[in-house]
Amino acid sequence: MSVQIKKNRRFIAWVCILGVIFLLSPLSTHSGEYHNPKQNTFLKTTETLACSQCHTMHGSQGGQSMIYGGAATVYPYLLRAATIVQLCRTCHENNSLSMSNPTPPDIWNNTLGYTPSGGDFANRGYENEQNRHSVGQTNVTPPGSNPTITITYFSCINCHDQHGNTNYRNLKKRPGNASSDITVSYTLDGAGTCSVGTTPCDINDVTTTGQGTTTNLYKYNRGNVTFSKAASNSNGIAPWCGGCHTKWHGAGGTTDVGGAVNGDTGSSPWVRHPVRDVNIDQGNSDLHADRSNWASLSSTVRTRAVDPDNLAPTSSVADEQPFCLSCHYAHGGGNPNYTSDSTLDHSNLVFIDGSGNINIDSAYTASTGRIRNLCEQCHNQ
Ligand code: HEC
Ligand code: HEC
Ligand code: HEC
Ligand code: HEC
Ligand code: HEC
Ligand code: HEC
Repeated sequence: MSVQIKKNRRFIAWVCILGVIFLLSPLSTHSGEYHNPKQNTFLKTTETLACSQCHTMHGSQGGQSMIYGGAATVYPYLLRAATIVQLCRTCHENNSLSMSNPTPPDIWNNTLGYTPSGGDFANRGYENEQNRHSVGQTNVTPPGSNPTITITYFSCINCHDQHGNTNYRNLKKRPGNASSDITVSYTLDGAGTCSVGTTPCDINDVTTTGQGTTTNLYKYNRGNVTFSKAASNSNGIAPWCGGCHTKWHGAGGTTDVGGAVNGDTGSSPWVRHPVRDVNIDQGNSDLHADRSNWASLSSTVRTRAVDPDNLAPTSSVADEQPFCLSCHYAHGGGNPNYTSDSTLDHSNLVFIDGSGNINIDSAYTASTGRIRNLCEQCHNQ
């Protein structure tokens, strides 16, 4: 064997060993970086959340408790709070650690001056279990799960990956019954579309003027988020919710949702509201949806819909498709009636008032608010 071949073999062996080391190193798993492996960050700065902001090795530093709130104890998984929900709320409610740049988005009862994309868990300070995902509860079952799921402790990490991933909002790739990865992406208005797999789906390099140039909170503002159409119908937000609410999501023509692939076409009625495949154009030709009315609404009032072309609808073209977040908030809904008639506040629903405000906004007027105002944007019955 020539010296040259031996050298080449040794070289290849080294490349293989280095490759294995690289694959096993933390660099390639990205765990713990600001919940996710960001490349494009707010003002292109580094936003790395340290392990020690959530974990403590011994519960004590400098003789002081490392537990948030100061308790002299330690908790499972070396966490700095008694429960996962409490840990997440330490930053994501009232910004109790006074962080800035980036500021943690408030998901409990947001008073940071923007409308939170996911809604509130305790809108108006009210924890209404009928009107929110009941985080912190034990032994809960998602309606429509098939096979039936029982979640022994329902928390933020049933839906979000605490160590980050490349999905929109670090959404878990396999929620509930999902047996393969579900990717979710979005378009951040003024900043561009983020493609899952290459850059983290959490692009934050805002280039427009306005809120985005001064704060990371721009990307959590409901009005700045548009849901793109996934290349395949097994990806995107509606199939993602379907990971737990299995029967609520499906292709047109299946037993669970009824209809047909291309809309009801006048002869195949839906048995559950369609949440994919079918757009307003189709509904318009089937005489079930009112495209002109939908197109006439101002973009600030129009409810969310998956938007394949990212273009505003016109009276002749409207490819928007209704999906779960056209009618629901992901976290919890508005509680405008909680003191008088709380039975109206249920199922995380989006209600719209006579001026077009949604029920999580402080400007919402309960006396003119109706869910009918939402349905009629598309149906105008
Ligand atoms: C935002 C908070 C947060 C940060 C930051 C964080 N973790 Fe965690 N980690 C958690 C939570 C919550 C759990 C508990 C998961 C469970 O109950 O299953 C956990 C679990 C773990 C576990 C055990 C189970 C597993 O998922 O492997 C390890 C190991 C771990 N973390 C290591 C780290 C390291 C190392 C870092 C820093 C690179 C880090 N964590 C950063 C919140 C965090
Ligand atoms: C990890 C599983 C899981 C995922 C994913 C999930 N849910 Fe749920 N959902 C539940 C559970 C459990 C309940 C029942 C307990 C409760 O009310 O929170 C529930 C209840 C609901 C309710 C009824 C609320 C109430 O208080 O009665 C609505 C509406 C809802 N989910 C919508 C959604 C939407 C929309 C999505 C996607 C953005 C989604 N869910 C994703 C687990 C899940
Ligand atoms: C049932 C699934 C589910 C649960 C449980 C859940 N989230 Fe979310 N979360 C989502 C989805 C889906 C979005 C994206 C919603 C959107 O943009 O409309 C989101 C968005 C967010 C955001 C971005 C801010 C915003 O207003 O959209 C943060 C931060 C967040 N979640 C934190 C949490 C924390 C902390 C908990 C636990 C207290 C939690 N989530 C529980 C599904 C969930
Ligand atoms: C030490 C403070 C801290 C803790 C604890 C913490 N977070 Fe966060 N989180 C932040 C900050 C700050 C941001 C904003 C990052 C940004 O804007 O880029 C954030 C952002 C997020 C986002 C949005 C990510 C995106 O795609 O923009 C989610 C989802 C989230 N956190 C979930 C959680 C969950 C779930 C927990 C509990 C396991 C948790 N956080 C605990 C500080 C924290
Ligand atoms: C973002 C637009 C949008 C919103 C909002 C919306 N829908 Fe629909 N809806 C559609 C489309 C599109 C179809 C499919 C029509 C078709 O197949 O031709 C549909 C189908 C239906 C059908 C079934 C018709 C059939 O063919 O069997 C009913 C009933 C319905 N919607 C009621 C409602 C109600 C009630 C609300 C409010 C809670 C609502 N919709 C909100 C767009 C919407
Ligand atoms: C057109 C509006 C609309 C769309 C789209 C829609 N929902 Fe609903 N959802 C409602 C309304 C209204 C209710 C109240 C109960 C009812 O009418 O069935 C509800 C109730 C629910 C409930 C509570 C059921 C219970 O037993 O308490 C869950 C869970 C839910 N929806 C999840 C979803 C998921 C997941 C999607 C997407 C796959 C979705 N919804 C799409 C309007 C909608």
